[in-house]
Amino acid sequence: MENTNEKKNVVLSLVQASGTPTLGNYLGAFKNWHNMAAENDCIFGVADLHAITVRSEPQDLRRRSIEMYAMLLALGLDPEKNIVFLQSHVTDHALLAWVLNCYTAFGEASRMTQFKDKSQRHADNVNVGLFTYPILMAADILLYGADKVPVGDDQKQHLELARDIAERFNGIYGDVFKIPEPYIGKKGARILSLQEPEKKMSKSDPNVKSFISLADEPNVIAKKIKSAVTDSEARVYYGENKAGINNLMNIYSCCTGLDFDAIEKQFEGKGYGDFKSAVAEAVVEELRPVQEEYKRILSDKAYIEKCAKEGAEKASYLAHKTMRKVMKKVGFYQG
Ligand code: TRP
Repeated sequence: MENTNEKKNVVLSLVQASGTPTLGNYLGAFKNWHNMAAENDCIFGVADLHAITVRSEPQDLRRRSIEMYAMLLALGLDPEKNIVFLQSHVTDHALLAWVLNCYTAFGEASRMTQFKDKSQRHADNVNVGLFTYPILMAADILLYGADKVPVGDDQKQHLELARDIAERFNGIYGDVFKIPEPYIGKKGARILSLQEPEKKMSKSDPNVKSFISLADEPNVIAKKIKSAVTDSEARVYYGENKAGINNLMNIYSCCTGLDFDAIEKQFEGKGYGDFKSAVAEAVVEELRPVQEEYKRILSDKAYIEKCAKEGAEKASYLAHKTMRKVMKKVGFYQG
């Protein structure tokens, strides 16, 4: 990592490799990563240990992990300046998670709403890993002394738990962990489903027409946007009861930089067909550089291997420093 005199914040995030991210993830968060990476010391990883809380075929886990790793690089994280790694390559995550398990109350973990949701959705495989998932996440964060963690709404409660565990541990042993804060970047857009524009766009939506994946080809993107739900008014403006059009305007605005007034003017007297064609074209152009970079990186396995190895080395070094401190404080014999 770059070590200049000015002290940059450590921004840390791990992403789950459970399917290709969507246009919503891109416009809501990733689009700003270039800026975030320039202004901070970023540590980003693929949460492959978290991934096995849900069963998958070994070759799928491997493929998805590599794809997500390539995606992190394609999205603008520089493996020279930032740390980009796979969680399972740094064994201290699992060790710290175990230690922190013993400093987390059962009741506290039971209150995690994502656990309650997930155990209903995966009723056939409610494993203990699913329950302790947020504690592994706390370990991810605390190992690196992260100052800031970019989190979506669904992860806020987990970050709060990480803070509580860190404060409890520090209360007993002194200042071991940095207390992490949420990273508030430039506010990203909230992109909604193309089919049910009351809900967020989600890659796990069973209706594939409802989301645009970052891996979708231009013709697929165009098709999905053409079949997006609108209304019967056939006039492009941002208004009440126009959730579908509002969402498309929002997408168009993010891709072109035009505000809603300008968009309204541009499509005065035109129908939804013209508007949708323009939105599709703008989205295709917006995603093109990332998609090209993603394909380029993914086809270069030697490069991925080299970056992942270096990322693991840099991450391990930092993680191990924290881990040694923790082991000593708790009272493990270190010789
Ligand atoms: N639980 C996060 C999610 O599903 C992924 C994650 C794992 C994470 N470890 C993390 C996010 C550490 C931020 C920091 O999105």
